Order: sequence, then structure tokens, then C-alpha cells
Amino acid sequence: MSTARGTDERDLEVVPDGPYDDDSRLVAPEVVGDDAAAEGALRPRTLDAFIGQQRVKDQLGLVLEAASARGRAADHVLLAGPPGLGKTTLSMIIAAELGMPLRVTSGPALQHAGDLAAVLSSLVPGEVLFLDEIHRMSRMAEEMLYLAMEDFRVDIIVGKGPGATAIPLELPAFTLVGATTRAGLLPGPLRDRFGFTAHMDFYDTRDLHAILVRSAALLDVELSGDAAAEIASRSRGTPRVANRLLRRVRDFAQVRADGHVDLTVAQAALALYEVDEIGLDRLDRAVLDALLRRFGGGPVGLSTLAVAVGEESETVETVCEPFLVRAGLLARTPRGRIATPAAWAHLGLRPPVGSTPVLPFADVVAADGDEA
Ligand SMILES: Nc1ncnc2c1ncn2[C@@H]1O[C@H](COP(=O)(O)OP(=O)(O)OP(=O)(O)O)[C@@H](O)[C@H]1O
Ligand SMILES: [Mg+2]
Repeated sequence: MSTARGTDERDLEVVPDGPYDDDSRLVAPEVVGDDAAAEGALRPRTLDAFIGQQRVKDQLGLVLEAASARGRAADHVLLAGPPGLGKTTLSMIIAAELGMPLRVTSGPALQHAGDLAAVLSSLVPGEVLFLDEIHRMSRMAEEMLYLAMEDFRVDIIVGKGPGATAIPLELPAFTLVGATTRAGLLPGPLRDRFGFTAHMDFYDTRDLHAILVRSAALLDVELSGDAAAEIASRSRGTPRVANRLLRRVRDFAQVRADGHVDLTVAQAALALYEVDEIGLDRLDRAVLDALLRRFGGGPVGLSTLAVAVGEESETVETVCEPFLVRAGLLARTPRGRIATPAAWAHLGLRPPVGSTPVLPFADVVAADGDEA
């Protein structure tokens, strides 16, 4: 919980629900709770079975077909996009479609160039190397990767100081599939070495609906069409969230109903789990509620807003705000956070007469342009 900083913050009482349990957050885009165990069974295994992202699928299909036709390793592929949209799933599909084995590693696991050299030198020809969180690789490993991607070669440095020598080591041709949630953090030279970059977008409710129907069949859950639509519209454009909500709704249906998920059951379950019609959870709504009722829609500073909901500024900023901004409910401006007309409408409130009008769009800054 934050400690109050300014006088204006000291007299704010803290919401009684208290600190928020981030690990059980049902609408988190990242892996939480039992996700890791549950997701494997739900991953589509072919490009055809991968729902949505049509542009990415078309382009990737071409890359893979061309490689197969040439009988050579496919171009390196970069998968960029927010968590939970299917990057890991696509990497597995790429290997499967190429009929090649898949090796999995991640940026944080490659802290020394030697870590990467060990992985690279043990690849078999044509193997797909999936490098998750590629933006978190060390600089040393990155330099080595440049050469490996371009010439299928690494220089192993033997010895230290003036006597050190570089021994070139030939590598088999391989396909690197890099994944990142922060494409902007990748150095240009690394980005340039990928033959193809797939930018993944959030899914529309129609695609999420199709994903839910598919997952329900795999999980042996009877799911009605309108229930699927209801869950889809609360899933924040993210398949991982859709699948998680489906599992929780299924639990509810098994305990409180006959196991069949229809619209009424889905709505009752999601009400119990406090995930509202557009996918806001308790903390999201608490933030909006404070912004509207206590601060008249803003502008209000991030730290003041955080104190009002009894949370750390960082939690509000990184956990709630990205989706509130994306949903068009909240804007970050140089003078603080403000609510949009959609926020008032969503909570069923009327903006006070003479309240601060929403600033023109030019005044709205994208990210961290808030007060200190
Ligand atoms: N297009 C899709 N069709 C069906 N299921 C999907 C699709 N995309 C993702 N999923 C499902 O969503 C879950 C999360 O996908 P995945 O693990 O591939 O996301 P990610 O982009 O790698 O996330 P992170 O950035 O956290 O690593 C998986 O269970 C997967 O089955
Ligand atoms: Mg992943």
C-alpha cells in the first residue's frame, strides 16, 4: 500500500477491500495461477487451426511455404505483440509446419555469450530456435546472435586479454523465432536481421468467440453461442484471458449448475468473479470510480489516484491503466489522469455540470507523461 505523500492525499480513506491480489487476477494478460498447466492442451497446432490474425497467418504461410519449396531453413521470424496473443503458440506451429524440431530458450536464460553458443552449436540442420523475451538478452549474447543469424557462424573466444583468439565455429542453418512484448526495445541491427516480423494485434470478439468454441470442445464443456459471445466480450481482446474465463465459468457451472454453460450461467459466474461487461475487474472499476466520484473526472495525479484506491502507483499504472486507456475510458495527460465521457457512461454516472472538459486529443500523451 502506498504511503500518502501530499497533504491532499492524507485525508483520503482507503477502500475497505484492501490490497489487490495480483496473482489471481482473472483478466491479467500474463500467465497467472494454473494457466501454464492448462494452456498446453488448448494450443492450436497448425496454422489453419490458429484463429484470427489473418494478415500474420497469410504472410507467415508464405514464408514457410517458400522455405519448404527451397528446401532450406526458413527466414528468421520475429513475433511482436502484447502478452497472451499467441506468440509461443505460433512458434510451435512454425516448427510443426516446417516439420522441424523446436528448441526453446529465452532472453533471461542467455546472460553470457557462452550460454547462447552452447545452444547454437547443438542445433540440428533446419531446427527452429524459439527465443522468448528476446529483448531481455544480454548485450554479449546479442552480438553473438547477429553473426549466427547472418552467417550461421559464431566466434568462440579462447583465452583472455591480448592472447585471446577467436575460433570460428560453423553452425547448421537454423530458423530463429524471436518473441517480444516490447519490440521497441530491440536494437535496430537485431530487428533488421529478421526476414519477417509479425505484429500481433488484439483479437476482435468474433475471433475470441471462435477460440472459446474451440477451447470448450477440447475441454468437453457444453457452451452455448450466446455464452461464448458474453465471455468473448469480457476477454479484453486476449485469447489467454478468454481461455481463463472459460475455465472459471466451467468451474462455476459444475458446482452451481448442471455443468452446461448458457448465458445466465456465464453472466452469474462472471458477476461472482467481478469481471464486468467489458472485462474490467474490481481494481479497474475502483480506479475509475475514484477518478469519477472523488475527483470529478480529473485531472488527478497518478499517486493521488493510487492512494484513493489503496494501491501502489505502479500497480495502478502498469496493471489497470493500459487497458483503461485502450478501452477509451481514461487518458493520461500532462496535468494528470482524466476520465473520458465513455467512463462516466460505463459507470452509469453523469459528469458534474461545469466539470473539466475532456482535453483535446493533442494534449493527451501516450504513456508516462504524468506528474512525478
Ligand atoms: N489464435 C489463437 N487461436 C486459439 N488459441 C489461441 C490463439 N492465440 C492464443 N491462443 C491461446 O492463448 C493462450 C496464450 O497463448 P500464447 O502462450 O501463445 O501467448 P504469448 O503471446 O506467447 O504470450 P506471452 O507474451 O505471455 O508469452 C494459449 O493457451 C493459446 O492456446
Ligand atoms: Mg509466450
